[in-house]
Amino acid sequence: MERNITDRKILEIRNLTKGFGSRGGYETRVIKGISMDIFPGDFIAVMGPSGAGKTTLLNLLSTLDKPDGGQILLDGENLEKVGNKRLSEIRRDKIGFIFQEYNLLDNMSLEDNIALPLSLNGVKSTEVRRRVQKMAAVFGLTEHLKKYPYQLSGGQKQRGAGARALVTEPEILFADEPTGALDSRSSRDLLVSLESANRSGNATILMVTHDAYAASYAKQVYFLADGQIRCRLVKKEERKAFYERILDLQISMGGEQE
Ligand SMILES: Nc1ncnc2c1ncn2[C@@H]1O[C@H](COP(=O)(O)OP(=O)(O)O)[C@@H](O)[C@H]1O
Ligand SMILES: [Mg+2]
Repeated sequence: MERNITDRKILEIRNLTKGFGSRGGYETRVIKGISMDIFPGDFIAVMGPSGAGKTTLLNLLSTLDKPDGGQILLDGENLEKVGNKRLSEIRRDKIGFIFQEYNLLDNMSLEDNIALPLSLNGVKSTEVRRRVQKMAAVFGLTEHLKKYPYQLSGGQKQRGAGARALVTEPEILFADEPTGALDSRSSRDLLVSLESANRSGNATILMVTHDAYAASYAKQVYFLADGQIRCRLVKKEERKAFYERILDLQISMGGEQE
């Protein structure tokens, strides 16, 4: 992965810190000085055990929460310096989210669910249809578009949430434990879809997970421990061999990360 110093960064994170105060007056630092750069086309998994601060980190990067210290530049824009109006534009135009819960609307077909962010933005209907078809193909949902959420499996709903998050072509997709509620077959289908969105659609993805299997679909894995990024693995091999390497590192870092 050769980089040029002039390469555009989607996210530039410098010395980020975040803590939560408690009634007793003790502050728990959860994020203790994290710096990282994310470039177009990256697919990064941040791994760490439950309670390591993965969700906290993702909420900071995705503008849902504010850091105590440090800087986040999204596409060159310092998030600390932008007002609320600009922040909601950034969320709408530049950021996609997938959470553990699918959050599809029950009274709309899958097609309308995926189209929703475009329809809300007043995109022309022919263009909406084209983009929905494209994302449905990436996520293996083409023959399910007319169905309603209650007619879909958990895996199909989560792939629908992925398609909806990417239909606006965001600068970056944030995924928080996206396979957390899925069985292993549906997890694999979702991860293969994300991998394909990254490879063929050039989607930039930052996923946090405690699961080595999920992480092995990413191109790079960062390990979060004690509030810092402890090490980083870059995938150079087939996924299965990468998975073994992630497990080995997990064990050498202190074993069980559940
Ligand atoms: N809003 C909050 N208020 C107080 N403590 C919090 C809050 N959010 C997270 N924490 C604490 O921060 C730590 C990291 O949480 P989290 O980021 O959810 O971890 P992870 O997603 O890796 O499981 C935990 O100890 C959690 O209890
Ligand atoms: Mg979490």
